[in-house]
Amino acid sequence: MNIPFFKNKKSEEPSLYHDENIADHIAIVMDGNGRWAKKRGMPRIAGHKEGVSTVMNIVKAAVKYKVKVLTLYAFSTENWKRPKSEIDFILRLPKEFLHIYLPELIANNVRIDAIGDMENLPHHTIEAVQYAIDRTRDNDGLQLNFALNYGSRNEILNTMKEMVRDIHDGKLSLDEVDEQQFSRYLYTANLPDPDLLIRTGGEKRLSNFLLWQLAYTEFWFTDVLWPDFSEEEFLNALKEYQQRQRRYGGL
Ligand code: FPP
Repeated sequence: MNIPFFKNKKSEEPSLYHDENIADHIAIVMDGNGRWAKKRGMPRIAGHKEGVSTVMNIVKAAVKYKVKVLTLYAFSTENWKRPKSEIDFILRLPKEFLHIYLPELIANNVRIDAIGDMENLPHHTIEAVQYAIDRTRDNDGLQLNFALNYGSRNEILNTMKEMVRDIHDGKLSLDEVDEQQFSRYLYTANLPDPDLLIRTGGEKRLSNFLLWQLAYTEFWFTDVLWPDFSEEEFLNALKEYQQRQRRYGGL
């Protein structure tokens, strides 16, 4: 049975949002959980917990507004510098999220995938994510990518090493190496580059996220902290994207 996220879809569609220039691939740096918690006198992990509900709200909004791919920066290679208790907490969240929401995601045709160095994550995280990947493999709706233990410089370095290895082994010739070929060695091999990058929490930096893939992406920043990020705010980003003129270096 297909349980739609939204009934009466037509009447809820905001007037300014239209079907043209929809950002197919949206990447999000979900920042501000710690500050959200601090403002309320709560421990940082309370912000991460609240951030899980926001993830589901934004996934629903992405389905509603016909986004094709949503890539969420959930844990970076630099996040290992945080206190162990916080790291352990964050790395339990994918399992918690999937335990609660996987049936609803499946019912809505969402396909789950992950990018990053998964091998070095705790076993329970890998197991939960792999289970969701396997269960949703044949879905062809929104692709929901979790960036877990992801770092862009590391990804680029590994790509370079693998290419050199393949050239050495005669599987690839130096003449074949171009941007397309390079992209095929990245975690995002089967994905289009993001059209829109959203960062919540007021900071304006990339934090080692998708450096190669964001070369021509439109950026959109908001001061709203991730746990407070709403469908309405997400829609503001989509609408602004629709106004942007992308020239890719041309005129
Ligand atoms: C950055 O905020 C946030 C993170 C490092 C963790 C992000 C994780 C989630 C939003 C939950 C992930 C959910 C799933 C389902 C995988 P921060 O802690 O740096 O905030 P601060 O800048 O206010 O300190």
